[in-house]
Amino acid sequence: MAENSKFDETPRIPVDYVRGILQPTPTCDAWDLIWNFQAKPDDLLISTYPKAGTTWTQEIVDLIQNEGDVEMSKRAPTHIRFPFIEWIIPSIGSGLEQANAMPSPRNLKTHLPIELLPPSFLENNCKIIYVARNAKDNMVSYYHFQRMNKGLPDPGTWEEYFENFLAGKVCWGSWHDHVKGWWKAKDQHNILYLFYEEMKKNPKQEIQKLAEFIGKKLDDNVLDTIVHHTSFDVMKQNPMANYSSLPTEFMNHAISPFMRKGTVGDWKHHFTVAQNERFNEDYKKKMADTSLAFHFQF
Ligand code: A3P
Repeated sequence: MAENSKFDETPRIPVDYVRGILQPTPTCDAWDLIWNFQAKPDDLLISTYPKAGTTWTQEIVDLIQNEGDVEMSKRAPTHIRFPFIEWIIPSIGSGLEQANAMPSPRNLKTHLPIELLPPSFLENNCKIIYVARNAKDNMVSYYHFQRMNKGLPDPGTWEEYFENFLAGKVCWGSWHDHVKGWWKAKDQHNILYLFYEEMKKNPKQEIQKLAEFIGKKLDDNVLDTIVHHTSFDVMKQNPMANYSSLPTEFMNHAISPFMRKGTVGDWKHHFTVAQNERFNEDYKKKMADTSLAFHFQF
C-alpha cells in the first residue's frame, strides 16, 4: 500500500536524555524553554504516563466544559484543543508554541514525570488531573503505539520491549517512578488522581468526579451524553478524537489503530507465563514503597 510505504520511508525521531529521562531529541533541545514554561492559575493540565488514557480523559474534560455539546467538542482534533507542552515534532508542530499562543483559560497536556514538570504549574496552584493505568496494559498499549508512531523509537520485538519498559528505557521514563511520583505529590497540590480501570468500570462516577474538580454542575442527562460520547466505540469513530487527522506517514493506523482495544486485561494476550512472573517479582520490589494499588483485571 502506498501509505504503508510512505510510513516505512519516514525516519523515526531520534531520542536523547533530559535529566535521566528519555525524550525525543527536539524536546531535549528545547528543554530550557519547556522547563521555563509559564503556567497561569486558570490552566487545567492533564498529566499521564503515555497510553494511560490521556485522550479519553481529554475528551471527557472538553465535554464537561462544554456541558455535553458534542458538536463543540468536534471543533478541532484533540492535540489542537489540548496543547501537549513538551511535544515538538519539526514536521508536525510544537505543542509548546501552541500553548504559548493559546488564549486563556487553557487546557494543556503533559506526560512529564513530576520532577520534570515546569515549576510554574505547582507555583500557580493549577488544577491537574492525573490518570494512571495498570502497568501491564500500559506496557502493551505503549508497545503497539510505538509500532505505529514515527514520533517514537522503533519498539523492537515484544521481548525486547518488555525488558526496556521494565528498565524505564522508554520515552518519559519508568512507569513505576511516574505513577509513584505523582501519587506522592497529590496530597500537597491541586491534583485529582484517577485510574483508567475505574473509568472503565464506572465511567459516570468518574466523570462526575472530574466535573466536580473542574467546578461544573451537570444534569444527569448531560452526564449520560458524556458517558456515551466518550465510550471507546463512539470515540473510535470520531475523527476529532482518534488521531486520524495526523498524516499517515507519521501515525499509521493500519499497523495498529490509535483506538486499539480500550480494555482492561489485554496484557494476558501478550505476556508469557515467564514474563508475568518476572514482571510480578520486579513490580513487588519497585512498588514496595507506595500505597498505590492497581487492578490488572476485572
Ligand atoms: P489500548 O492501546 O490498550 O487500546 P493515550 O490516550 O494515553 O495515548 O491512551 C491510549 C489508550 O487509551 C489506548 O489503549 C486506547 O485504546 C485507550 N482509549 C482511548 N479512548 C478510550 C475510551 N474512550 N475508552 C477506553 N479506552 C480508551
